[in-house]
Amino acid sequence: MTLIDERLEELKSKALACSDCPLAQTRTNVVFGEGNPNTPLVLVGEGPGANEDATGRPFVGRAGQLLDQCLAENRITRKHVYICNVVKCRACIIEGRSVKNRPPRQEEVSACYHWLKEQLEIIKPLVILSLGAPASNIIIHKDFKMTRERGIFFPTQYAESAIAALHPAYVLRQHGAEFEAARASLVADIAAARRKVMEIKKELAEKAAPQPENKPAPPQELSLF
Ligand code: URA
Repeated sequence: MTLIDERLEELKSKALACSDCPLAQTRTNVVFGEGNPNTPLVLVGEGPGANEDATGRPFVGRAGQLLDQCLAENRITRKHVYICNVVKCRACIIEGRSVKNRPPRQEEVSACYHWLKEQLEIIKPLVILSLGAPASNIIIHKDFKMTRERGIFFPTQYAESAIAALHPAYVLRQHGAEFEAARASLVADIAAARRKVMEIKKELAEKAAPQPENKPAPPQELSLF
C-alpha cells in the first residue's frame, strides 16, 4: 500500500459518513470512486445513478459498460485508471414508488466539491478526462461548452492537463450513425488522453535525466502509459 492509497482510504472513510447535503438521506451508498490511485489518468463523471447507488461503485450500469468497452479499445482497464464523480451520492426524484435520476443541484455540487478536490490533490493525476459537460464545468472551466471545446486540452488546477469527452450516457441516447460517431469520439478522446499522459511523462523524464545527444532515447512506454 502506498502513501497515496492510505491517504485516499482515509478520505474515503470520511466521505462514506458524509451528511453535508440532502442527498445523504436518499442514497444507499456513497460512490466515492475506485481504480488505481497511483495512476496518471483520472476519469471524472457527473454523479452516480441507480446501479452505482446500489453497489457503491462508479460507472457500473449501461453507461459504465460502454465506458469499459471504449477504454478496452485503448487497451485500458480499470486497473490502469481511477474513476470518480463530481457528486458522490445519487441525485434522484422519488415519485410514489418510482425513483428517477435527476441532475445534481448546484448546492449539492458545491457541498460535495471538497471531496473531489481532496481526491485529486491526493492522486495528483497528470491528465483528467472529464465525461460530459457538468464534470467539465468543474474540472475545466465554468462556462465549458461541449460542442465547442470537446477534445481540446486545457491546463487545470487539478492536473497538468484536462480534456473533455462525451458522457457515455449521452452516447447511449444516440441512434444509428449518430451513436457510432459519438462512440468513436469517446474512444478517440480516451486515446488522446492516454497519449497526453505519455507525452507529459516523457517530458518529465527528459527534464529529470536529459539524454546525451548521440545516445538514442530508450524505447518509450513498455507499460501502458
Ligand atoms: N454516470 C456518471 O456520471 N457517473 C456514474 O458513476 C454513472 C453514470
